[in-house]
Amino acid sequence: MPPTHNPMDLTGRRMLVTGASAGIGRATAVLLSRLGARVTVSGRDETRLGETLALLEGGGHDAAAFDLGQLDAVPGWLKDLAARGGAFHGVAHCAGIQTLRPIRIFSASFFEEVMRVNLGSCLAIAKGLRQKGVHADTASLVLIASTAATAASPANVVYAASKGGVIAATKGLSAELLPDGIRVNCIVPSIVMTDLIERGFEKLTPEQIEHLRKLQPLGFGHVDDAANAIAYLIADTGRWITGTSMVVDGGRTA
Ligand SMILES: NC(=O)c1ccc[n+]([C@@H]2O[C@H](COP(=O)([O-])OP(=O)(O)OC[C@H]3O[C@@H](n4cnc5c(N)ncnc54)[C@H](OP(=O)(O)O)[C@@H]3O)[C@@H](O)[C@H]2O)c1
Repeated sequence: MPPTHNPMDLTGRRMLVTGASAGIGRATAVLLSRLGARVTVSGRDETRLGETLALLEGGGHDAAAFDLGQLDAVPGWLKDLAARGGAFHGVAHCAGIQTLRPIRIFSASFFEEVMRVNLGSCLAIAKGLRQKGVHADTASLVLIASTAATAASPANVVYAASKGGVIAATKGLSAELLPDGIRVNCIVPSIVMTDLIERGFEKLTPEQIEHLRKLQPLGFGHVDDAANAIAYLIADTGRWITGTSMVVDGGRTA
């Protein structure tokens, strides 16, 4: 057999996956472990984080429960993680929230919560990752935006605005973190079947769900469709890519 070369090999690399207690984050953690990485999984629910840990391949993984809404505490939390387990070669920031709400019931507290968790956490993680000793000589930060930001998503405008902020932040952060050897990119998914989507669908009629399905020529996405794109950007396959928003949307915005 000729020697095989896998540009997505992550052997010897340490990764942090947020939102790893469910959905896209869990699938990403599993994939990164299959590619050889040592993975720290994060979320708030320790039981579900334990379930994710049990799905990972290889050894050296751990769980670190944390509420990313505590923005000012994020850099210190990352510093502690690095001090205990070594610098990170990559962060897949998959934590996020979505609650469908028409603008007629907009409130300041709702706005504050969605912006804090979806956008503020990206900025706090970027601040934390660029600290000395927290990132390896070269590292990759992957954020998750949404086609809600790039195609009309009624009753979802606060979420959409937070994800538009992620796309904008990806650009600025990629330039700011370049001197630290950190690439910054985001993926822009359309509807990927997860708990987040199931909860939203509970508020919709079967006709509305069918309408959403038809918006995507390739159908609803699977969590692995998002995880594959994240892994591509985190691994050496993405070594010449920074500041990019990678659309992964089943043709939604084609
Ligand atoms: N699914 C889609 O169709 C879709 C499309 C576009 C973009 N996205 C984005 O993709 C990301 C993942 O979505 P998903 O569908 O996988 O969602 P999900 O199944 O609801 O999972 C969300 C994850 O975020 C974590 N999380 C939420 N609030 C948190 C907080 N304050 N602190 C720490 N962790 C928190 C949750 O952990 P705990 O519950 O343990 O706290 C959970 O692990 C989100 O940013 C979402 O906006 C999803």
